[in-house]
Amino acid sequence: MEAGARIEICLEEAVASASSKPCPPLLAKAVHYAIFPGGARVRPQLTVSVASACGDADSSIADHAGAAIELLHCASLVHDDLPCFDDAAIRRGRESVHALYGEPLAVLVGDALIVEAFNTLQRGCQRDLNKLGPLVSCIAGAVGMPGGIVAGQAWESEPKINVHQYHRAKTGSLFVGAVAAGAIAVGEDPQPWCPLGQFIGEAYQLADDLFDAAGSAEESGKPVLQDVNNGRPNAVAKYGIDGAMKRLKETVGNAVDAIPDCEGGEELRSLILAQATRLVPSKLAKSAA
Ligand code: IPE
Ligand code: IPE
Ligand code: MG
Ligand code: MG
Repeated sequence: MEAGARIEICLEEAVASASSKPCPPLLAKAVHYAIFPGGARVRPQLTVSVASACGDADSSIADHAGAAIELLHCASLVHDDLPCFDDAAIRRGRESVHALYGEPLAVLVGDALIVEAFNTLQRGCQRDLNKLGPLVSCIAGAVGMPGGIVAGQAWESEPKINVHQYHRAKTGSLFVGAVAAGAIAVGEDPQPWCPLGQFIGEAYQLADDLFDAAGSAEESGKPVLQDVNNGRPNAVAKYGIDGAMKRLKETVGNAVDAIPDCEGGEELRSLILAQATRLVPSKLAKSAA
């Protein structure tokens, strides 16, 4: 079975287990809505790809770790769209969770997904409990304090923000967690993989900033000009469109160069380059070509 289908199965299992009786029906519906249909599912794909590049024989731990990371990512989006953060009514081309189900349920959906992520991880590690501790610690670090998503979102409440540090925490950390989890899932040292995650995360946020400043809501499925309207640091505001495009190209190159020596390195390289072409708003891609 393809990695994408296996990840969807792990996500379905997680949502079904969280939504079973006596779960309040609206919470169950809203949790399902936050996960399905998904977005690009890049982070779990990366976890599974790294595990398989290291020669994964049994993908079950990597599949569950990837699904846990995707649940955390979806939680971060539900919370990020709330009125107290970016106040975004549209996500993935349709109403955001709070716009459809109201703020109290959206807060709870995010909370529930965070908890369910760690539950998914422990389900995936039943056959090899030695990996559970390192995976929990890696993934918790990617989403919590001092340098994970929570910290990244918290920089928005500080009087001064360093854009690089902000991006690294709010976006880069989960990509680092995604690649590191792939290595841990197969019993490899995650350290040599971390620079790859950092570069992919950086590239991803540069692309997201380009979409925000110069893309369209039709193409990205979420509102544009959010960063300007909310006074958030944005790579385009800092470097201009050409500067941000140049940085994006360099960062994708750095990511490819950062792939450690491994069996499946060439495949991973093709995957990253294929994803990179998808990152840029189409009108910028056309004018760059
Ligand atoms: C959006 O992430 C938030 C950022 C960190 C830029 P994605 O672009 O991966 O969102 P989905 O999951 O595909 O909707
Ligand atoms: C992305 O922040 C990282 C999160 C923690 C959700 P953004 O606010 O830049 O992401 P989008 O543009 O809403 O997806
Ligand atoms: Mg935000
Ligand atoms: Mg946002």
